[in-house]
Order: sequence, then structure tokens, then C-alpha cells
Amino acid sequence: MAFQAALSLPSAISILKEGKSNISLKETGLFGVSVSDLKAEIKSPLLRSQEVGKRKPQVGTIRAQTATTAPAIKQDAPEAKKTLRKGNVIITGASSGLGLATAKALAETGQWNIIMACRNFLKAERAAKSVGIAKENYTVMHLDLASLDSVRQFVDNLRRQETPVDVLVCNAAVYQPTAKEPSFTAEGFELSVGTNHLGHFLLSRLLLDDLKQSDYPFKRLIIVGSITGNTNTLAGNVPPKANLGDLRGLVGGLNGLNSSSMIDGGDFDGAKAYKDSKVCNMLTMQEFHKRYHEESGITFASLYPGCIATTALFREHIPLFRLLFPPFQKYITKGYVSEEDAGKRLAQVVSDPSLTKSGVYWSWNKDSASFENQLSKEASDAEKARKLWEISEKLVGLE
Ligand SMILES: NC(=O)c1ccc[n+]([C@@H]2O[C@H](COP(=O)([O-])OP(=O)(O)OC[C@H]3O[C@@H](n4cnc5c(N)ncnc54)[C@H](OP(=O)(O)O)[C@@H]3O)[C@@H](O)[C@H]2O)c1
Repeated sequence: MAFQAALSLPSAISILKEGKSNISLKETGLFGVSVSDLKAEIKSPLLRSQEVGKRKPQVGTIRAQTATTAPAIKQDAPEAKKTLRKGNVIITGASSGLGLATAKALAETGQWNIIMACRNFLKAERAAKSVGIAKENYTVMHLDLASLDSVRQFVDNLRRQETPVDVLVCNAAVYQPTAKEPSFTAEGFELSVGTNHLGHFLLSRLLLDDLKQSDYPFKRLIIVGSITGNTNTLAGNVPPKANLGDLRGLVGGLNGLNSSSMIDGGDFDGAKAYKDSKVCNMLTMQEFHKRYHEESGITFASLYPGCIATTALFREHIPLFRLLFPPFQKYITKGYVSEEDAGKRLAQVVSDPSLTKSGVYWSWNKDSASFENQLSKEASDAEKARKLWEISEKLVGLE
């Protein structure tokens, strides 16, 4: 796991592995960078016309449960032969990092039409080109998750194109570990929770009917989680810890005026807001599973892709952190995962015929084999998931 080798740091730490840790921890530092920093993830319109349903089916799939470092591409899988058309997968935040690497991995199978749902249209186009995604395998559509109007507009545009939705990947995120003051979405929600949770919550709720109508052999809704939101892990125990409390700040609208900008009602903390948003992501996945899996057959899943220390997620961190974080993860904790390998992991969760179990939080062991991981007490609290769902519905105007 990403932070195991923090054992080598001068902290009173004991850990077994993610989901099974026995932890006592005190704050310390590394080369002037606090350990909490090092571990906080140590941690328009359619561009071109759709050709959905018109292409010759191609076979090949990404394998699950592989013990190799990167899932292999398997040709002529029997499951793929059932497919009459390419699958359509929407990936939010596909303009960089994990989302882009996942788009690339899926595009390379030739089986997927990737809808890159991005806030910066030009950046996404350039990113797709820069990693060599063939034109016929992707479409860029504008989506700003920090605006609920934009989310609704995105869904309208998609429906106008009559694009079937087979898989939705809620991947985009913002992380503001050094922010002193909160910033806000168009509707006035604190930015991290507003984008990472509320924007995705509205998007996935609106697209649920589209997913239900999909005639693809499988349909999936995946919400990217994180180790840092799980307090049953070493990383999740580094302050500030995720804690949604009694959700009083969320009930108040996270606007920082007549309510706190933090879900638990406390003072603003950018790193905590990100971790809280990840707890929301993992709770939302489970509530979806509980409410809709049986009736719809949709697989709902979350995952921790590993510590992808090089992504732009850390763009707002101090330069020294950004310099030291990747080598720290590579050579000290050994929890580092390249963007390419992390993309293959998420691509597995999208397309692997054997990862059909719903309600699962996937992780990968040191041999890069996937396994069902345990969520923390809070991230698997069914009552909290229900409350979060109901409050979120009100905030995004679904009630
Ligand atoms: N990196 C890690 O170690 C790590 C570990 C665990 C989980 N994760 C999760 O992995 C996911 C991807 O993160 P990453 O590491 O790949 O970071 P990243 O490279 O910064 O990617 C984040 C993506 O989200 C997009 N985004 C941000 N705000 C948006 C908005 N308002 N509307 C639409 N898109 C928006 C960004 O768009 P722009 O390109 O326009 O900025 C970017 O494409 C996140 O859910 C993160 O929590 C990452």
C-alpha cells in the first residue's frame, strides 16, 4: 500500500496493510515537508459526430485478477463476442492523470468509444492527441462539475446525440491542500465537496436512467475513491482525518456564510475537504448499490488505484512537495503506481468481465492483482450513506 514504508519515518506507526491496520501515529516531517502533506494522497458541445453503433465490433478485453504489474489485453474473449457495438464510457476529468490514462488503456482495446467529459475542451483534445488516442475512439464533451447547470447541460447534450451510456466513471477531482480560505462552486458549495461529490452525485443520478436503458452486456457506474478517506489505513490516519460528523455543514449548504464550508461543521481545511469528498464518493457508491443494483443490474463500484504521485492532483501543493513526493513514493514507501498502470487498473474496473460484483471497493496488491478491500467504519456506514444521499438530493435540486 502506498504508505506502508512510512514505517521508515520517525513516527510511532504500526501498520499491516490497507483495511487491516493497527495504527498509532504522530505527526513528523521529511525534508521540511510535513508527513501529513506527504501522505495526503501520498498521498460546447460535442466535438465530432458520434458513430455509435456503426462500427464493426472488435474483440479484446482487459483481464482481471492478474498477477502481473499491468493487466494484459486478452484477444477473442467470449464475453466480447456478445458485443454488437462498441461500448460507450463517459470518463469525467479525462484531460489528465488517471482519467487520461484510463481513456488510453480503453481506447487501445478498440472496443470503447470514450466520452472525455472535461471542463477544458482544448486541453482534453490536446491530451488525447498527446497520448495517441485514435480519433475514432474518443469524443470530448464539455463538463464543469463545479456548476450544476453545466452538469445538466452535459446530460442534455449527450441525450441529444442519442448516445447510449454503458459505463460512467466519476473520476475528476480537485485537491486544495494549501488553501487558507475556501473557494466555491457556481452554486456556492465549498469547491472540493461541491466538485468531487455534489457535481458527480447530480451527474450520476441524472444518467442512472440512461445506464438502465443500456443494452450493452454489462453496465457500470464507477466512482473513484481513495485510501485517504479511509481511516482504517495508515494514510487515512494522517491528520487532518476525514470525518463527516453529523453532516451539519452539508445540511447548511457548505456556503461558509450561514453554515460552515466543511461537512462536519468545522473550520475550513482544504486537505480534509478533499478526504471528506472521497468518503462521500465511497458512501454514494454503496447507496447506489443498495437502491438500484438488484432492479437495474448495474454494477456499482469504487476503487483506490494506488498512489499516482506524478499527477496534476498535487498541482496546488508547494514546489518542494511536488519535487520530493514522487521519489518518496517510488523509493521509500514503494507505494507508487505509474499513471499508465493506474489507468489500466481503472480500465479493468470498467471492462473486465470478471469484475461484475457490485458494491465493491477495489484495490490492488503488490503484485497488481485486484482484491475487494474493506472500507473504514465511516466510509461503510449505511445510515450515513442514506443521510448523505438525502441531503445531497436537496442540495443539487433533485427534490
Ligand atoms: N493521484 C493519486 O495518487 C490518487 C490517489 C487516489 C485517488 N485518486 C483519485 O483519482 C482521480 C483522478 O485524479 P488524478 O490524480 O488523475 O488528478 P488530475 O490529474 O488532477 O486529474 C483530475 C481531473 O479532474 C478534472 N477536474 C477538476 N475539476 C473539474 C471540474 N470542475 N469539472 C470537470 N473536471 C474537473 C481535471 O481537469 P483539468 O485537466 O481541466 O484540470 C483533471 O482532468 C481523483 O478522483 C482522485 O481523487 C488519485
